[in-house]
Amino acid sequence: MTDAYLSSLFSLDGRVAVVTGGSSGIGRAIAGALARAGASVVVVARREAELAETARELAADGCRAAWVSADLSTRDGVRAAADDAAAAFGEPDVLVCSAGINLRPPMGELDDATWDVTMAVNLEAPFLLGRRFGPGMAERGYGRIVHVSSQQAHRAFATSGAYGVSKGALESLARSQAEAWSGRGVTVNTLVPGFVPTPLNAALSSDPERVAALAARTLVGRNGRAEDFAGAAVFLASAASAYVTGQSVFVDGGFSAH
Ligand SMILES: NC(=O)c1ccc[n+]([C@@H]2O[C@H](COP(=O)([O-])OP(=O)(O)OC[C@H]3O[C@@H](n4cnc5c(N)ncnc54)[C@H](OP(=O)(O)O)[C@@H]3O)[C@@H](O)[C@H]2O)c1
Repeated sequence: MTDAYLSSLFSLDGRVAVVTGGSSGIGRAIAGALARAGASVVVVARREAELAETARELAADGCRAAWVSADLSTRDGVRAAADDAAAAFGEPDVLVCSAGINLRPPMGELDDATWDVTMAVNLEAPFLLGRRFGPGMAERGYGRIVHVSSQQAHRAFATSGAYGVSKGALESLARSQAEAWSGRGVTVNTLVPGFVPTPLNAALSSDPERVAALAARTLVGRNGRAEDFAGAAVFLASAASAYVTGQSVFVDGGFSAH
């Protein structure tokens, strides 16, 4: 009884999920969570060895997983990624956009190339992938799109620069996509992490004083771990979240609450 009830809410059996940035950090943990909840998962990023290792680890756990190497900083790269990802297990029911970059030049030295690549990976790729997959999800009557945003969409700190701008726009994109497709069974939400030591912030996370200061800003008393996103990601990918859309869900240990 309990298992059947939990399955009706959260099981991803029979679902196909595409997770960008699924080879590292938060995206990798989300890919693992969705796969272990039953989804067939395609992880998308550039580096082949990391992608292959992620898929191998999931397959070893009895999950269905595939990988696609693509550069999401170009429109052609995104188009190729989408076609290759859909070729693995079919058109996705779930799209998670976790691929992201955070280059941190001081605002006065933020050059055109840094601005452009930040917007391309963090904002334009999620737009293009949503445009590619959202209408099909709506036609089929079920879809879940989950973007990974940032505190810096809401507050400026740690040289938020172009990154914070891209994440602010990403949360607006989620609301626009939610407006477009929620009436046909496709919810669109963002997960908002706190500080999670990953390769994205290697410089910051190697400074013990700043790491401790960031942990002190949370209510839970520690910084985030990639695994902290598993439960929220399964919820937002599953039937359980059918009435949750256009929202920014903070998984941040209370970082944003004070
Ligand atoms: N860690 C934090 O504290 C934190 C806080 C707030 C928000 N976030 C957000 O969480 C998401 C995941 O970050 P993370 O911390 O898990 O960092 P991460 O471990 O560095 O993961 C970033 C992922 O994005 C992929 N990626 C980067 N550029 C790409 C490109 N041009 N084309 C395709 N894939 C690309 C990377 O793979 P390749 O390098 O192989 O391409 C990697 O899989 C990001 O959107 C980030 O902004 C993180």
